[in-house]
Amino acid sequence: MTVILDGKKLRDKIFEELKAKVDEMPVKPSLAVILAGDDPSSKIYVNNKKKCAEKLGINSVVITYPSTVTENELLEKIKELNDDKHITAILVQLPLPVHIDKFKIIDAIAPEKDVDGLTPYNSGKLFSGEKPYVYPCTPKGILLLLDEYGIEIEGRHAVVIGRSNLVGKPVAQMLLDRNATVTMCHSKTKNLPDITKTADILISAVGKKVVGENMLKNNCVVIDVGIFRDENGKISGDVDFETVSKSASYISPVPGGVGPMTIASLMLNTVELAIIE
Ligand code: GUN
Repeated sequence: MTVILDGKKLRDKIFEELKAKVDEMPVKPSLAVILAGDDPSSKIYVNNKKKCAEKLGINSVVITYPSTVTENELLEKIKELNDDKHITAILVQLPLPVHIDKFKIIDAIAPEKDVDGLTPYNSGKLFSGEKPYVYPCTPKGILLLLDEYGIEIEGRHAVVIGRSNLVGKPVAQMLLDRNATVTMCHSKTKNLPDITKTADILISAVGKKVVGENMLKNNCVVIDVGIFRDENGKISGDVDFETVSKSASYISPVPGGVGPMTIASLMLNTVELAIIE
């Protein structure tokens, strides 16, 4: 029997606990989100982040810029937010307009306000086995989901498709820290199905339909991080759910799997950053 990994249900449980925690905080966490440009998906994500924060009693402010914004304008704003004692968490929504050096922007965020865990300080801590202020949201959400369903990680072969800084690289490191044997695959990987067939846990974070029938062994745990609109305008993930779900032991749906867990982790991180010394 295939179990659907219900990210919405776990998100709701996390939100309930977080709301109670925030209610007791004398000073509420404050999340600042920078949104530059007019990527339609980013606008939806940022709106959703703001709505969720409000529901939990977390203050949030969204600062928007046109796609013509300069690096200096963004750097100045980040400096202002770093210095603002009322702001406890900063998120720069990605992707940024193409003329902006995203590394320069991310590097400017104060590590103790870096709610995505993406600055060199926090990712350096993560990759050297030290504890960062917070872990990147999507990887953290994936591990929370695996743990909620009691899925064993230690000693299992995890195959990660996609090597982004947001998902692929940090999730691989976090699985390694939990004693999984980890293989990273990407667009230049040869014979992908030969590798995915050896996975006990498969995580796909590509944004294209890359996992189909006959690519996995029976009883694989399948985590689909991709979310995009297919040629018919339907919300879709990296995994062909219809065929793959027949042989998987656990599978995360799109929508309703990893997406809600990313936002749950963002809210958890926002609260965590507000209570650090
Ligand atoms: N764009 C898509 N996902 C994310 C995320 O988790 N954080 C940021 N900052 N941008 C994103």
